[in-house]
Amino acid sequence: MIRVLSVASECAPLVKTGGLADVAGALPGALLAQGVQMRTLIPGYPEVIEALDGAGPVAAFEHLFGGHGRVLAGTAAGLDLLVLDAPHLFARGGNPYLDPDGRDWWDNPERFAALSWVAAQIARQGLADGWRPHVLHGHDWQAGLIPEYLHNLGRGNTRVVMTVHNIAFTGPADASRIPALWLDPARYHSGAYEFYGHVSALKAGLMGADRITTVSPAYARELMTPEFGMGLDGVIRHRQADLIGILNGIDTDVWNPATDPLIQPYADAHGKAANKTLLQREFGLPQDAPGPLCIVVSRMSHQKGLDLLIQALPALLEQGGQLALLGSGEASLQDAFRAAAADHPNVAIRIGYDEALSHRMMAGGDAIVIPSRFEPCGLTQMYGLRYGTLPVVALTGGLADTVINASPAAMARGVATGIQFSPVGAQPLRNALGDLAALYRQPGIWAQMQANAMAQPVGWDQSARAYAAIYRDLLPGTPA
Ligand code: ADP
Ligand code: GLC
Repeated sequence: MIRVLSVASECAPLVKTGGLADVAGALPGALLAQGVQMRTLIPGYPEVIEALDGAGPVAAFEHLFGGHGRVLAGTAAGLDLLVLDAPHLFARGGNPYLDPDGRDWWDNPERFAALSWVAAQIARQGLADGWRPHVLHGHDWQAGLIPEYLHNLGRGNTRVVMTVHNIAFTGPADASRIPALWLDPARYHSGAYEFYGHVSALKAGLMGADRITTVSPAYARELMTPEFGMGLDGVIRHRQADLIGILNGIDTDVWNPATDPLIQPYADAHGKAANKTLLQREFGLPQDAPGPLCIVVSRMSHQKGLDLLIQALPALLEQGGQLALLGSGEASLQDAFRAAAADHPNVAIRIGYDEALSHRMMAGGDAIVIPSRFEPCGLTQMYGLRYGTLPVVALTGGLADTVINASPAAMARGVATGIQFSPVGAQPLRNALGDLAALYRQPGIWAQMQANAMAQPVGWDQSARAYAAIYRDLLPGTPA
């Protein structure tokens, strides 16, 4: 059996700030069905250590970036975990990346360098329980230095796969930290980890991986362009032959409207009505609005384009539509939506993070709006599809790959599942919201689109096969 060590900075349901956690949490189960054994190495944040069952040490390091560290093997939430217990790096409040005041931890480069170094050690030395991976599969910049440490330790036959979930985060560090990061100073050059005069963990990963994957085919193409590559487009073009886009799936057991214990379950879209009434009541929205109830569940950052929604909101409200938003992030965006909610009875918001409420919103909403400026994959449009909540999305990345736009051709064939708008701007979004309201006024067509959406496969099967094929390709002769 192929053995893979997945290396990630977050993993659902234990610790999550975004979709990366969902992917890290879902991959092992999906891959097992493909004959791949995946264990997952994550940092020992307090909530992870606390959740760990039957944990025992399988590796220890006396000196690990300024303190003692060990790897605990255990299970939690059905996951086979290797947890890097290094209190000097991870036993802190705040979230995985930010201190309680919302600033990056000053030693983030070292914290995740330690994670990557330990992954490389596990690949070279194996663990005390006798396990040693064939492949290290790193996610985002936090695992980017793996190829550098493998180089220093002797790469041997270890294969490396790097997945880009978001190229906007590159893991920069000042060159003065090269010794503190245990990097080989001789490799501070453009062919390894140097990037415009500083250290870039993500670049190191992109240069040194055997294969690079990203989370949708459209984003794989976008990454090669200056507009989306965030300065790394040249590196991506250089590695083009080894790059592949593989769509994320969602957990179709957790996100199943027919069995979801957090909602009034429904097998077809008729069952949404009861959930809509409850949701309107919960958000204090009028029940008699003639237009669609749009929802947003999102981090509030520039990436997500919610400033465009603020501008386009009147176009929805004029058509009798409503907005219910759940999110948190940039203060200016939170304030703008607070102000909109104060001004309009048909706008209501919740600032915060609330998994259960996000289920109720998927069940009760008519449409989900995702105006992202870029979106490597995006998960919430897939939740929307599965719950018959039609996605209104920017034509970018995974949003382009997962939604079938209500174009005349798609409507004529009765296959549309949502609305895509392009370019990403306030006016195209206004037009899309107008189109949405027009479709909503045609119940037969709307019901057809809901049925199409709910029937669309959004699980992991196909993508897990694609990952397994990459590992097999890298390991000719390894028994499946
Ligand atoms: P990203 O990782 O860029 O934030 P994704 O769409 O891939 O975008 O994943 C976001 C994940 O986080 C989804 O599972 C979404 O439901 C969840 N999420 C985001 N904001 C909230 C929130 N305020 N409350 C509950 N869940 C949220
Ligand atoms: C990143 C991206 C998001 C993607 C997620 C999981 O957070 O922003 O689009 O769905 O990673 O791959």
